[in-house]
Amino acid sequence: MDYELLTQFSDQYTSKEGALLAEINDFTYRHHAEPHMLSGHVQGQLLNMFSQMIRPRRILEIGTFTGYSALCLAEGLTDDGVLHTIEFREETAAIAQDFFNRSVHKNRVRLHTGNAAEIIPQLSETWDLVFIDADKVGYINYFELVLPQVRKNGFILADNIFFHGEALKENAKGKSAKAVKTFNDFINQRTDIEKVVLTVRDGLYLIRKI
Ligand SMILES: C[S@@+](CC[C@H](N)C(=O)[O-])C[C@H]1O[C@@H](n2cnc3c(N)ncnc32)[C@H](O)[C@@H]1O
Repeated sequence: MDYELLTQFSDQYTSKEGALLAEINDFTYRHHAEPHMLSGHVQGQLLNMFSQMIRPRRILEIGTFTGYSALCLAEGLTDDGVLHTIEFREETAAIAQDFFNRSVHKNRVRLHTGNAAEIIPQLSETWDLVFIDADKVGYINYFELVLPQVRKNGFILADNIFFHGEALKENAKGKSAKAVKTFNDFINQRTDIEKVVLTVRDGLYLIRKI
């Protein structure tokens, strides 16, 4: 399969993103040193679709960046729904907050600035959907912190589980790729969850608490 053709096709045959999302994407590619961290058009529409399917009342996102995925996930929230999102870097969080303020979802998005490992235990919510997309070495910790607060039949999505293909190798190199590989093995061995690998972009683990 021609990967470039596949990417082109996915892009062309997926619903277009809204104007604010397109602006966040453009801004991030013009001003940020690592714009590839943003979920982007196709994955963003997938997050939107999952959210519409689940109709979550409480969403937790770990790793806000410039706010793209948060606004995609917020699309399916119930009328009384709230999305909490956590970003470590103050400067990045300020950019995301500016975009949130211009969104129809502005009153339903709560941005927390700081270390996710410290903030998650302070949030006493029951999660319907969790999106793990921060530092890769923290993935197992984030999973263990959130699982008790995820409702039965609730969902966890973890991003970048291929880590550019490196995490699929037996001898994965680099701190993040090794951490993702360990996370993938850890998830695969668990029997208290159902899981499916989605081969979208850099790989998503879709997990259901049973
Ligand atoms: C891959 S980006 C998130 C992309 C975003 N979810 C999207 O799709 O547009 C990861 C973000 O996690 C943040 N981050 C890294 N370590 C963190 C931590 N310990 N706590 C909270 N945020 C963290 C980074 O600063 C970065 O902005």
